[in-house]
Amino acid sequence: MLSIEKYQEEFVAYLEEYATIKEPENLYIPIQYILGLGGKRLRPVLTLMTAEIFNSDYKKALDAALSIEVFHNFSLVHDDIMDDAPLRRGQETVHEKWDINRGILSGDAMLIMAYQLFENYEANTFQALARLFSKTAIEVCEGQQYDVDFETRNDVTIPEYLKMIEYKTAVLVGAAMKMGAIVANASEADQNSIYEFGRHLGVAFQLQDDYLDAFGNPETFGKQVGGDIIENKKTYLYLKALEFSSKEDQLKLRDLFNTTPKNNDAKISIAKQIFNTSGASNVTQEEIKNYTNKAFLVLESLDISEEKKTLLYDFGTDLMNRNV
Ligand code: IPE
Ligand code: IPE
Ligand code: MG
Ligand code: MG
Ligand code: MG
Repeated sequence: MLSIEKYQEEFVAYLEEYATIKEPENLYIPIQYILGLGGKRLRPVLTLMTAEIFNSDYKKALDAALSIEVFHNFSLVHDDIMDDAPLRRGQETVHEKWDINRGILSGDAMLIMAYQLFENYEANTFQALARLFSKTAIEVCEGQQYDVDFETRNDVTIPEYLKMIEYKTAVLVGAAMKMGAIVANASEADQNSIYEFGRHLGVAFQLQDDYLDAFGNPETFGKQVGGDIIENKKTYLYLKALEFSSKEDQLKLRDLFNTTPKNNDAKISIAKQIFNTSGASNVTQEEIKNYTNKAFLVLESLDISEEKKTLLYDFGTDLMNRNV
């Protein structure tokens, strides 16, 4: 097994070779731009690591890892259009830098490119990867639609929220790991366990993403802080704040999330204050720990060496403590 940094390095080298500009340039420049902006490379690293955990060479999993990262970046380009987001990884989003049409088409092309990468595998592996990918990609679309639907709903429940983030985010983390297991020819039971590990970790990851969207440091976060508040996103923070706060704050919060104010800064600062005073921020932190622990519980049932378990355990712990 290599270190996380080493998997990252190997992956980025492979990616750089892949993301070249062809004609028409206007299609490929935004693709190279977004793929080159960096990011944590969390999902492809998980694919490579998982392949080695199940006794394969990570090199065999490079195309699957690339597929996952290209798909992830496609989803971000379209997500930034849908969320009207100006910043991604500290730089302008694709639709801001160019325009919405470039974002749509470059995104579409990335989705196809992600699928195309499976052609580098032999028939059985191809089929298993493609099947998992199709199921996952549809779920991500479903999750994204729920996310948008919830912006204008006032009766979103916690179970509905959890289902939404499972679909838009967690299933892709699970799939990233399962793809590593598929490439490594792991048993079906192992494939499913590692998927469950990734899925729980993915829920924790999205809860943390929501938390950081409100409370991240604007200097280092890389995205517009408060973007979810501006967009009336029904996050865990928001839902728990409604549950816990006084009648007066409940009304204030509901009202804030049903109007488009002239001044977003005031909206953000009032919402954050209620998130804190209601106890919603603390409960969100607790829930991040809970889901990370659920992932760790799955780890115990896996028949792999203690050393490999420690690697996954450390990965989950690092994710929980991230601030970007
Ligand atoms: C952002 O994902 C989208 C979510 C699912 C929260 P990441 O936080 O993994 O984004 P990058 O790739 O590191 O920029
Ligand atoms: C994104 O959720 C999920 C997908 C891109 C599928 P967010 O909208 O919270 O992601 P960020 O915060 O923009 O990265
Ligand atoms: Mg977004
Ligand atoms: Mg979004
Ligand atoms: Mg977010």
